[in-house]
Amino acid sequence: MESPTYVAFATQKGGVGKSTLTTLVASYLYYAEGVELVAVDCDSSQHSMNVYRDHDLVVTKENPYLKRALHRFYLGFDKKPYEIILTSPKDALDVADNYVDNAPEEKKPSVVFFDITGTINNPDIVDLISNMDYLFVPITTETGEMASSISFASAVVNNMMTVGTTKIKELKLVWNKINSREKTRLCDVMDNYMQKHGLSSLDTVLVKSNKFEKDGRETGNTGMFRSTMLPPDRRLIRGTNLEELVSEIREIIKV
Ligand SMILES: Nc1ncnc2c1ncn2[C@@H]1O[C@H](COP(=O)(O)OP(=O)(O)O)[C@@H](O)[C@H]1O
Ligand SMILES: [Mg+2]
Repeated sequence: MESPTYVAFATQKGGVGKSTLTTLVASYLYYAEGVELVAVDCDSSQHSMNVYRDHDLVVTKENPYLKRALHRFYLGFDKKPYEIILTSPKDALDVADNYVDNAPEEKKPSVVFFDITGTINNPDIVDLISNMDYLFVPITTETGEMASSISFASAVVNNMMTVGTTKIKELKLVWNKINSREKTRLCDVMDNYMQKHGLSSLDTVLVKSNKFEKDGRETGNTGMFRSTMLPPDRRLIRGTNLEELVSEIREIIKV
């Protein structure tokens, strides 16, 4: 069995979409495409995957529609929800390696996702980031977030990747919260600028949508877009580019 691919969506700033992207991509891969995986949440200080999971456990009991959807889904899906392991940046690698070593053959993950905050000043985080195989850096068109993602990505590329002190094979920025399915003019201008600094972004952008606010508390006949226990509701995926995003990421990380 090959060793699993370590992947992180990381940025310095909070609120850009790390936990959201990690959850959406992990849930789509696991529940819709059958990829074995585990998530390591190293970000207990913020809204993170671990918080989402706790929330999902509650809403799938309280919301009758989600309760039925969960029941129906697991009739045809012979696995439990993927594990989300809460730990610190310092212990994250050991925890992940241990999980992989001890998993039974049929549960060996092909991918391990890490949800990391990117404070580049913290040596544990720098070490963790440098041990990823692939790094995806969410970026939005909000000025502060844009600057922060670019400076984080270029620190990784220029201080780690070109110096060869890292396992990272590829770093890609990912435009998130975009008002259209195509890159906007600002994205293109910034892509151009970033290219001059040795950075590049995925072709696919993740659309900005209030579907992200659907957290399962509102009742009715809608599922959830971002759930850690269910695949994203098919009706809610439409128009978001999520499927295209997952497919582009799969090509890069080769799973
Ligand atoms: N594409 C999007 N459209 C709308 N809201 C989004 C989108 N991506 C993320 N969000 C929202 O932005 C907020 C921050 O996202 P989050 O994933 O928690 O960021 P981070 O993990 O980087 O701190 C959350 O409320 C989330 O629902
Ligand atoms: Mg987060």
